[in-house]
Amino acid sequence: MAQEYRRAFAQATNDPAAFWLQAAQDLQWDVAPQTAIDDSRKPLYSWFPDGKLNLSVNALDRHVAAGRGESTALIYDSAMLGSVESYTYAQLLSEVETFAGVLAGRGVTTGDRVLIYLPMIPQAMIAMLACARLGAVHSVVFGGFAPKELAARITDCAPVAVVTASGGIEPSRRIEYLPAVAEALSLAEPAVKDVIVAHRDGFEHEVSEYRNQPINGQEINWLDWEEQARQATAADAVSVPSTHPLYVLYTSGTTGAPKGVVRDTGGYGTALQYSMNAIYDVHPGDTMFTASDVGWVVGHSYIVYAPLIAGATTVLYEGKPVGTPDAGVFGRIIEDHKVTTMFTAPTALRAVRKADPQGSMIASHDLGSLRALFVAGERLDPDTFHFASDLLQIPVVDNWWQTETGWPIASNPLGLEELPAKAGSPTTPVPGFAVQIRDALGEKVPAGQEGNIVVQLPLPPGALTTLWGNDQRFIDTYLTQIEGCYLTGDSGYLDEDGYLFVMGRTDDVINVSGHRLSTGAMEQVLASHPSVAECAVIGLADALKGQRASGYVVLKSGVDIDEESLAKEIVALVRKHIGAVADFREVTVVAALPKTRSGKILRKTMRQIADGKEYTVPSTIEDTAVLDDLVPLLRPQA
Ligand code: COA
Ligand code: AMP
Repeated sequence: MAQEYRRAFAQATNDPAAFWLQAAQDLQWDVAPQTAIDDSRKPLYSWFPDGKLNLSVNALDRHVAAGRGESTALIYDSAMLGSVESYTYAQLLSEVETFAGVLAGRGVTTGDRVLIYLPMIPQAMIAMLACARLGAVHSVVFGGFAPKELAARITDCAPVAVVTASGGIEPSRRIEYLPAVAEALSLAEPAVKDVIVAHRDGFEHEVSEYRNQPINGQEINWLDWEEQARQATAADAVSVPSTHPLYVLYTSGTTGAPKGVVRDTGGYGTALQYSMNAIYDVHPGDTMFTASDVGWVVGHSYIVYAPLIAGATTVLYEGKPVGTPDAGVFGRIIEDHKVTTMFTAPTALRAVRKADPQGSMIASHDLGSLRALFVAGERLDPDTFHFASDLLQIPVVDNWWQTETGWPIASNPLGLEELPAKAGSPTTPVPGFAVQIRDALGEKVPAGQEGNIVVQLPLPPGALTTLWGNDQRFIDTYLTQIEGCYLTGDSGYLDEDGYLFVMGRTDDVINVSGHRLSTGAMEQVLASHPSVAECAVIGLADALKGQRASGYVVLKSGVDIDEESLAKEIVALVRKHIGAVADFREVTVVAALPKTRSGKILRKTMRQIADGKEYTVPSTIEDTAVLDDLVPLLRPQA
């Protein structure tokens, strides 16, 4: 048993150069790589240093050239508009060439950054692939982030252009993007020259409102996508080195400053194609439906790049798992588009189950085309695993990874062979990821014992190569804490059979509805309220969303404010500064926060108490009475 998997894992571990040079042959290179790894800048590594290629060519042109121009590349299914649009490979290529022409015509060139702030509409994919065509580096920002977060990303990666739309559609409201972009530009230190806007009907603000209105004294050209496209000449693909950055994707760290994960071109393309062969088992003729958002890494990899590189059909879904219109929508999409492979987050499955406990609305559809369901973004809890497995009667595969790695670190490798599943485990490490469990001192721990999950360096192709403009932060955060290893920031254990169990973060990153958020960033916002002396934000277990953020504040002395108004103000402040995506709703006023003698707030102890877990009080606690007073507030039912 497990022969195929074991063989592949051993090859990737024992001779990574040969293994990945072989895998790279599945891409179309302008200059095929002869060298696998450049390790001259250890602990920084780069893959295929002498190779040259273009990833939009690999995603589009080569399939058209192979005679598959009439195959469907993209199905845009909008539950918000009640519409479906399909693009063949030839049509999508034409859209991408044209928009690349628009960007080139505006002077965007190889290496320039382009910030993409778009909802789940085809233009998001077209803009990403158009950047890839020119060798411009895209940075997609999720629509649920507020202008301040958008501004932080603009300041960090200094884009020359922003591509956006009139807005996004949420079930409860329309989100106007143009005022948000204008505000972000006013808050940022931008080099932005152009804002290109895809028009959508039904929004209040128009591009014309913003024309001839300098921001911070700087003229910005607000342009209409369609108008520009009519005048554009299709752009040819630029052949870039394999190591050329394809994109920067920001993710939450422990501080308020987001980290710009840098992805290369050839390593990423190779890894994605390998993952389609070895993990997802998706090939030409298959249809992949990944219910995520292009603003997240799952969207980058498994809505946009991997399905197209593999020559399959991808479904771009604008809607929610429930309420648009009901908990059967995933079934409707599977039936309508003959989906073979689906990918979603555990929170979405829990939302379905909450609305429809037997899953009968999904089951009422013809699900005969579906071969496997992949789930990631947070741990797939055993209850949800059993719910989905019983409902669908196909493999339900938990896969564990991060924005940083770009593709799964651990998964059942269905494309190689199906390993027996264990509820609560994303199965075994994927070939290329030599996972180990280390204790706080960096020592290996025996099977069954929990510790830091690390990956031996070099990471395989596809993983981040650095943080944007900040090699040192990359090295300090991930590469030096345990020598020779990449620190994932997750804790967990390997069992006797080599199955990995990922139990949670070791830092202040939390995961709300599969969205990765920083409690540190939220604390900065709480602390900025004039009544707040100090605060702590912790992630509490939540039956639907996995975790939810909960804030505890100590008031400045002499402040007289009723708790309800204060909570409302603070909730509004988090929404304004971070965005609706933080889903921050709980504030409790406390007399004091428990701390160590060196002043560190005991967030972990607070979390354990609130979650009703066993907790140990660190011997370094400054004042145990503070913690005793807090217990009834943290765990009111106790
Ligand atoms: N643009 C703007 N706002 C957004 C947004 C977007 N793209 N996505 C979410 N929001 C807003 C919502 O409108 C909501 O705002 P509100 O407070 O005004 O209602 C807030 O952010 C929280 O939304 P959400 O996280 O969607 O929670 P919910 O309670 O509305 O829905 C779920 C719960 C489980 C249905 C939903 O979270 C969901 O679909 N989760 C799956 C997420 C996912 O696929 N993640 C994959 C990452 S790999
Ligand atoms: P992101 O970078 O947004 O993809 O978030 C990555 C983090 O989400 C990981 O470090 C984990 O903490 C968590 N995560 C994602 N997928 C899983 C999974 N399958 N099992 C457990 N945790 C997960």
